[in-house]
Amino acid sequence: MVMGTLEEKKMSTTDNTTGSMEKNPAAASAVIEAPAEESTMKSIHVKARDFSIFYGTNEAVKSVNIDIPENEVTAIIGPSGCGKSTFLRCINRMNDLIPACHTTGELIFDNQNIYHPRLNVVSLRQRIGMVFQRPNPFPKSILDNVAYGPRLQGIRNRSVLMDIVEQSLKQAAIWDEVKDRLNDNALGLSGGQQQRLCLARALAVKPEILLMDEPTSALDPKATARIEDLIDELRGDYTIIIVTHNMQQAARVSDYTAFFYEGILVEFGKTEQVFTNPREKRTEDYITGRFG
Ligand SMILES: Nc1ncnc2c1ncn2[C@@H]1O[C@H](COP(=O)(O)OP(=O)(O)OP(=O)(O)O)[C@@H](O)[C@H]1O
Ligand SMILES: [Mg+2]
Repeated sequence: MVMGTLEEKKMSTTDNTTGSMEKNPAAASAVIEAPAEESTMKSIHVKARDFSIFYGTNEAVKSVNIDIPENEVTAIIGPSGCGKSTFLRCINRMNDLIPACHTTGELIFDNQNIYHPRLNVVSLRQRIGMVFQRPNPFPKSILDNVAYGPRLQGIRNRSVLMDIVEQSLKQAAIWDEVKDRLNDNALGLSGGQQQRLCLARALAVKPEILLMDEPTSALDPKATARIEDLIDELRGDYTIIIVTHNMQQAARVSDYTAFFYEGILVEFGKTEQVFTNPREKRTEDYITGRFG
């Protein structure tokens, strides 16, 4: 069962005399009311409606309803195999690369179904960038890694490109470490530096949403702290959706938390509420370390 979406909450608060849920019994059965303090003012950036993801016949993500707020950090938590990466990857259609993968229901971004057959996937991925668990720089120079996306967008002017490269590397807090070696191969950087470079590469195309799948799990505590600081700095300007196994990290960096269990979105709400006063027993058991 899935908690209330922001939109449902808006409907139910603006229309409490007529009882919007009563008018739509199907919606009422699919959605749990959001808590009263949940803001109704937030813009929704990504919206899932009865969204399911299959690998062949295996339903890895089951009928998810969620409103992911704009310019906030949303953490996705849950035990291994519960569908976190599957859900995250679907937001910029990375699962297209897996032939057996298909989806049902709707995943909406900017009033468009991400799975509309005529959607331009290249431009979707420019608007929704991704940083993976293992840093994956191209075997090219540091400069070419960051300039790659802008060049694909058709930017040829060298000084414009250099400005973007510098700005992106500064945003990712790695400029000072690489400014004198921009032509060196990116594979010569440390793991933590490579991950910040990948973040700079993602930021260079000015995405609206950043997807991060366990971006610090291969990093040491110092590099992890740097990435968390960056997430904090980007908050407010980007919608960030981060998968993490680290409860403390979720509590530290996110504004909202979604808890998945066996493909089901069990609970979604303000991070503080989910961690201090979870509505569902399974959430409580997970965050207190009883399983997972
Ligand atoms: N490419 C694939 N082909 C078939 N099944 C897959 C594929 N990727 C994931 N699955 C299955 O989908 C389910 C969800 O996997 P997913 O990788 O999304 O879990 P996760 O929550 O990210 O786990 P972890 O925390 O271990 O990364 C699992 O049962 C997994 O075996
Ligand atoms: Mg995963």
